[in-house]
Amino acid sequence: MTILVTGGAGFIGSNFIYYEFEHHPEDRVVCIDKLTYAGNLANLEEALKNDHFRFVRADITDREAVERLFEEEKPDIVVNFAAESHVDRSVEDPGLFLRTNILGTQTLMDASRKYGVKRYHQVSTDEVYGDLPLDRPDLFFTETTPIHTSSPYSASKASADLLVLAYARTFGLPVSITRCSNNYGPYHFPEKLIPLMITRALADESLPVYGNGENVRDWLYVEDHCAAIDLVMRKGREGEIYNVGGHNERTNLQVVKTVLKELGKPESLITFVRDRPGHDQRYAIDPTKIHEELGWLPTTDFDTGMRKTVAWYLDNRKWWQDILAGEYQNYYQHMYSNR
Ligand code: NAD
Ligand code: DAU
Repeated sequence: MTILVTGGAGFIGSNFIYYEFEHHPEDRVVCIDKLTYAGNLANLEEALKNDHFRFVRADITDREAVERLFEEEKPDIVVNFAAESHVDRSVEDPGLFLRTNILGTQTLMDASRKYGVKRYHQVSTDEVYGDLPLDRPDLFFTETTPIHTSSPYSASKASADLLVLAYARTFGLPVSITRCSNNYGPYHFPEKLIPLMITRALADESLPVYGNGENVRDWLYVEDHCAAIDLVMRKGREGEIYNVGGHNERTNLQVVKTVLKELGKPESLITFVRDRPGHDQRYAIDPTKIHEELGWLPTTDFDTGMRKTVAWYLDNRKWWQDILAGEYQNYYQHMYSNR
């Protein structure tokens, strides 16, 4: 089988490519990625040595480039990770998010129809459900929770999901969707909470916690997300949505304190800064459907996952130091200097 992975030079996409090589070495993996600020060929250094792998630099909104690739590769499965993924950046430039996340999805699905792919899989997010109140720990997102978005990012992801379901119903495109909670692990770009805190704590720099740090996220080790996507795209029912999450809720403050403890750094590094506009309070996934239908369960608990993640950042300093030395400096200055 040939699997076309979009956005494979990013965080989850690169982890997914390694997951496929390990679990399905017989398959061919083709990656298309625009290499935006978040895409990094260093993530694919090992993959590029594999005969079953091809990398193509292209934009998923570029219809000509996408069709050429489908013509050449005739993929059996398309997995769409490619997206603008950072909520804070979507507040700065919503248009880019709409273009890539919605129109890119349309372009990929048009090519998938034309070339008769067996499965188009959309990697979506729990953020399409909006947020849950902090004082109702009994509530969870299920696949039937209404879409109710807060940020331009989540609105763009929800729009893409609706388009995917429309292509299934109108054109009979064989689709599936996974909606996952917050991931963490290797190759996580240091603009996101956990790698930002690890890399700043290692330099004894202040750790900017938004608002009062009581917002809750439901953390999942990235390999468990990859396993879920692999199961759904191969065995999940056509036209279905599957929520992915491991009942692993933590406040942001708890997460930051875990990082500090792992690194042996003082809590005095924590600095409370102005809140994110429209900041979602709590995400919490009910993963009953994927568990009951496909037998998926997470295998890495938070403490183990955090230990592995911190160890990865300690062992791969060049990877993140190269990122921090580039355009990232302007990004950090722009986003955090007046907070
Ligand atoms: P990321 O930002 O690390 O990677 C995104 C990748 O997409 C990058 O390699 C980038 O170069 C590429 N890309 C961006 N625009 C492109 C375009 N126009 N054409 C081709 N490639 C383009 O993101 P991530 O955290 O790995 O997230 C991957 C997917 O998973 C996204 O769709 C995101 O919405 C979803 N998701 C992420 C999380 C999470 O916690 N990170 C959780 C649930 C769902
Ligand atoms: O839930 C899935 C989503 O998780 C994905 O769809 C997104 O692509 C992914 O980026 C992530 O979104 P979040 O907004 O939850 O992740 P982020 O790492 O940006 O922030 C996590 C929490 O930490 C959030 O409540 C905001 C807070 N935060 C974040 C940063 C970057 C801080 O307090 N300080 C920070 O500097």
